[in-house]
Amino acid sequence: MRKQIVIAAFAALAAQGAAAADLAAGAKIADAQCAACHGKDGKTPTDPAYPKIAGQYPDYLFKALNDYHKGLRKNPIMGAIAKPLSKADMQNLAAYFGSLPGPLTHRK
Ligand code: HEC
Repeated sequence: MRKQIVIAAFAALAAQGAAAADLAAGAKIADAQCAACHGKDGKTPTDPAYPKIAGQYPDYLFKALNDYHKGLRKNPIMGAIAKPLSKADMQNLAAYFGSLPGPLTHRK
């Protein structure tokens, strides 16, 4: 019983987080600009140098993207990719990849 309440609370929180971002908009950018390296599902990268990002905490993904965007985290590839993204783009991408199942996931 207690476990069910906890699960319901987490589900409600997760739904709330997802509602704030536009998952469809994130998916659109992801397919066009990210899938080539990170994989369409975010967990089958096309090279071992490209990290798996599916299921990662959205807050972490947003921070990583925003840091690349601002040049606080330096990487020539991701820097160039994140530079033109808007804050909303990065929020939507973070929510989208965070919502996908993957080995990093904090959900079951
Ligand atoms: C040309 C290949 C390539 C493309 C395209 C690409 N990435 Fe990356 N991505 C990388 C590489 C390489 C790294 C590792 C960089 C580093 O060491 O900081 C990375 C790292 C990341 C990270 C940090 C992961 C972590 O665990 O810290 C995120 C988040 C990310 N990419 C998101 C995206 C998103 C969103 C897109 C599409 C808008 C995208 N990437 C497109 C190659 C790519």
